[in-house]
Amino acid sequence: MSLFRTKNIDAMLATARDGGLKKVLGPLDLVLMGIGAIVGSGIFVLTGIGALTAGPALMLSFVIAALACALVALCYAEFASAIPVSGSIYTYCYATLGEIIAWMIGWDMLLEYGLATSAVSVGWSGYFQSLLAGFGLHLPTALTAAPGALPGAHTVINLPALLVMLAITTLVAYGVRESARFNNVMVLIKISIVLLFIAVGVWHVEPANWRPFAPFGAAGVFNAAALAFFAFIGFDAVTSAAEEVKNPRRDLPIGLIGSLAVCTVLYVAVAAIMTGIVPFQQFEGVAHPVSLALQRAGQNWVAGFVDLGAIVGMTTVILVMTYGQTRIIFAMSRDGLLPRRLSAVHPVHATPWFATWTVGGIFSAIAAFVPLNVLVELINIGTLAAFTLISLSVWVLRRTHPDLPRAFHCPGVPLVPLLAVAFCLFLMAHLQAMTWGAFMIWLALGLAVYFLYARRHAVLHGDR
Ligand code: ALA
Repeated sequence: MSLFRTKNIDAMLATARDGGLKKVLGPLDLVLMGIGAIVGSGIFVLTGIGALTAGPALMLSFVIAALACALVALCYAEFASAIPVSGSIYTYCYATLGEIIAWMIGWDMLLEYGLATSAVSVGWSGYFQSLLAGFGLHLPTALTAAPGALPGAHTVINLPALLVMLAITTLVAYGVRESARFNNVMVLIKISIVLLFIAVGVWHVEPANWRPFAPFGAAGVFNAAALAFFAFIGFDAVTSAAEEVKNPRRDLPIGLIGSLAVCTVLYVAVAAIMTGIVPFQQFEGVAHPVSLALQRAGQNWVAGFVDLGAIVGMTTVILVMTYGQTRIIFAMSRDGLLPRRLSAVHPVHATPWFATWTVGGIFSAIAAFVPLNVLVELINIGTLAAFTLISLSVWVLRRTHPDLPRAFHCPGVPLVPLLAVAFCLFLMAHLQAMTWGAFMIWLALGLAVYFLYARRHAVLHGDR
């Protein structure tokens, strides 16, 4: 049974109190952090494919994806308010479902956050290069993409992706207060630009473009929802800040639910306006669907702003996801499941610097040298698996720790968690078989590392 040994929650809370990280974040920081992680390539790049998959009903797909995320967020919020400890879902599972599940979920989160930072930095690079091209500047082809990423072209390295990843790693290693300030400013800029899109675009909507509303029926809407889910990924990163928040029990639920609510409204509005301006068939092969809509409306200067908003948006996604990942690794290392050095806290900057540079180094290299065209689904499946477990865990926590103080109670347990599980499994079922295969390989690898290393080095080793 030692595979399912659980950590004592009181001991975890005590470690978190003296963990060495600075408690500087407030509720607004957390909402902005959530929006920072959420609004990025999902809305600025993938909505084109989404519109081709669902037609104008893409707005409905966003609502379905948001509903799934909202149910999961309620479960997250209860955990975050009861166990405000670094490591997010990994930590929650360690307290409820047991070590091997916690390890697998931590391993799964490494895939999700890591690949998301790399993939989004490749999207960033694409937008950045098109911005440069607007000024007549072009990078040598060899430096524009990973080897093999552009058929027919000789490419060596995706230099902009590498540089943005390294710059963000430096910031995250430098300090949480500095990272949060930078994030806050960037998020305000990107929200303003999305609002500008809405305010300008709404006057150019042709309701005729919304007919037929769902040309590919319910299947199209659900397939697009499984894809649109990517656009919401990141709200969970808010919980990884638990040990750096001044009043985590109150503020973490606000950060989670607040950021998700704001983004849902923005996304549905953007999807409705885009498909209202441009007939959905015309998004074929378009990498900048949002700005394309404005160009079609003859608003070229606003379209330029939208491109800038996309770059800013993706920058904060990379920032918050990198941050979240380092805190999960920090927690796993503190528990002995990963090498000890990864939880070393810098004496001056009070950040887990070794973990930050390890993560930053590995995923910068992946962004620079690996062609990342097929990753979105893999990131989605990893996240949906994690969300399924968190939803189940909240129910388990109610049974195993009924008296644990919680500032936030997930309503309707077990109905809400079970609905969340059903939604997540439903969306997972709409992903491709190849994605499932790759995901299983990653999990098998994780299981091997657990038995060869993590299990024997766990702090709890020897406990039953
Ligand atoms: N939600 C993030 C994005 O859309 C991952 O870029």
